[in-house]
Order: sequence, then structure tokens, then C-alpha cells
Amino acid sequence: MSQLANEHGAINLSQGFPDYPCHPALLDALTRAAQAGHNQYAPMAGLPALRQAIAAKLQLSRSIAVDADQEITITAGATQAIFTAIATVLHAGDEAIVLDPSYDSYAPAIAAQGATPVRIDLRAPDYAVDWQQVGDAVTPRTRVILINNPNNPSTSVFSIADLDALAAIAERHDLFVLADEVYEHLVFDGLEHRSVLAHAALRARSFAIYSFGKTFHATGWKIGYCVAPPIMTNEFRKIHQFLVFAVNAPAQHALAEHLAEPARWQALPAFFEAKRDRLAPGLRAAGFRLLPSRGTYFQLADFRNVSGGNSGAMSDVEFARWLTVAHGVACIPLSVFHADGHDAGLVRFCFAKRDETLDAASLRLASLNT
Ligand SMILES: Cc1ncc(COP(=O)(O)O)c(C=O)c1O
Repeated sequence: MSQLANEHGAINLSQGFPDYPCHPALLDALTRAAQAGHNQYAPMAGLPALRQAIAAKLQLSRSIAVDADQEITITAGATQAIFTAIATVLHAGDEAIVLDPSYDSYAPAIAAQGATPVRIDLRAPDYAVDWQQVGDAVTPRTRVILINNPNNPSTSVFSIADLDALAAIAERHDLFVLADEVYEHLVFDGLEHRSVLAHAALRARSFAIYSFGKTFHATGWKIGYCVAPPIMTNEFRKIHQFLVFAVNAPAQHALAEHLAEPARWQALPAFFEAKRDRLAPGLRAAGFRLLPSRGTYFQLADFRNVSGGNSGAMSDVEFARWLTVAHGVACIPLSVFHADGHDAGLVRFCFAKRDETLDAASLRLASLNT
């Protein structure tokens, strides 16, 4: 959709990346780190100062004690951490449970190990997990359950009851959990993000994965990290060592410095909630019915009552193409996140954009009603 958006000069609310600059202090720290000569290989597990800064952040923000040396590994983005964690626990013939709609790297990473993704389809509007169904999907070959909380694209946020139910299944069948928590700070309306790291039973069997790209508006830096118990981290690093070896050194220095100021991540919920609320009226005015956006920086919208064209009869893929080409606003059809291509008449808009971009999109969408 980004390519189509570029071809047609459309405002790109499809892919999840900010169009505003990251914090000047972060850029300044990167420049200083490079100029200070931090341009050679970083330690394999990640810069100690960055791992310590992450441990301090976990302590401050969640009162979680993590051993920076034995439990944190810096990765080349969350996607690499996800791949490595999957490669750590899966062998050919194993199964991994994936809750759909899901981030597009999960299933291929599982398949690359010769394992099978067992996909459980969650449905709009709530995308609630039927944990009984998840438990029933476990077989003797199941090794890991993947979760993404807050969830891209559904925007759902797990409750404590969800985590308890997940823990019960994981403990009963002795499974690993891969918790993609890259949107940990993007939770709205006073909701609290419940991390697997704050849940004793899950903490003991989870790879928890994060992304500085999401947290510090720098998706192009591709730096993330994985937190897991020492024995799991040890195995994770055996693959990390030969897959990546070492992650960008100056950027690690810059991030270590940037993390020291808590306000930089504490401000994120209010920052994104304001952006969500800025885009919403324009979408509603254009005839979209909005699903609640509880977390992440995405808004799901039902397009079947949008006037203009023949939206009620279009598939979500047709609608997204039409909106991009004819009205100059790009979005993503939800069916691409479902293994079976389930089409619920929904598209996803990304609101991690400058206010001017969101306003310009609203203006273009207003033409749908004229
Ligand atoms: C759920 C989810 N996990 C992981 C990622 C990728 O993170 P990174 O850019 O750090 O690899 C994304 C990016 O869109 C995502 O939405």
C-alpha cells in the first residue's frame, strides 16, 4: 500500500511509521556517539550501558527486577528478536500457536524452522481470545504460543484475566510464550498495559520483545530487545551470535542516554491518544464506523457505509485501493492479517503522523461525501 500511495501521491496512513522527526536529543546523542568514536562492533549481547538503562526503566516503570547481563539481549529490531526467539524454541515438525489477525513476520518465521503455525482466528469487533479454544489447539507438538499485546492490527489490550488464562495453558502443557510487546507504551483511555514480565508464571517462560523504533519514533533504526529468563536468554544468544553478532554501536549509545529521561516514554499515551482523537472526526464524517482503538497507533474502521464509489459491495482490498487511487488516502485492508483472508469490511489507518498530515487526510476524506 505504501508503494501504491507513492505512485498516486496519496497521504500514506497505511504503514506503521511516523512522518515526524524523532526527538532532537536522540539525534544529537547519535551524532555525538559516532563522533566520539563508538563506531566498532558492540558486545554481542548489546551495550552494557543500554542493557542497564533498560533494566532501570523496567524497575522504574513496572517495579520489575531484571538482570541486565543475563536476561536482556539487544537485537536488530523486534522482528529479528521474534525470529531468533522462534528459532530458539522450534524445531522441524513442531507447532506454534498464532492468534490472528497477526503481525506478518510470525508465520513465515515459524515456517522457516520447518514448524507449523496453528492459527486461531479472532474476530471483530472485540477480537477477544477464547482461551478454551487456544487450550484445545495445543497438541503434543506445540512448543510456543505467540501473543501481541497491545495488538496490531486489532488494537486489543489484554486484561489480567487474559494473562492468567494464557499462563494456565502454558503451565499445563509446559509451553514457551513469545510476547510481542512493542506497543507497550501505546495504551489509551487510562487502560494499563499488563506485561508478561509482571506476571510471575509467564515471566518464567516468556520471551518479551520490544522495539525502540516504536517507542522513540525511529523505525528506521531497527533496534529492539528481548527480555527472557537466563536459561532462555542463553539459548537465544546462541542463535543471535551467528544471525546478527552485534547491533549498531553508536545507536545503542544514543538510546542508552535517551532512556535516562523517563518523561520521554511516559508522555507517549497522551501523545498518541491526541493523534487518535484528531483523526477520528474526519473518518467519522466520511462515513466510517470506528472500532474502539485501545492501543497501538492504529485505528480500525468499517467502510461499508462510506458513500461514493460502491463501497458496500467492495472487498476490503478493493476499497483500500480505491481510497488510495481515487481519494488520495492510503490504508491497509484487514484481510491481509488473517490466514484465511477473512474480510470483515475493515481497514486500518495509522495515526502516528504529524497533525498536518492527519488534517490533510481528513480534508481529502471529506470529498467522499460531496
Ligand atoms: C506487532 C509488531 N511487532 C513488531 C514490529 C516490528 O518492530 P521492528 O521495526 O522493531 O522490527 C511491528 C512493526 O510494525 C509490529 O507492528
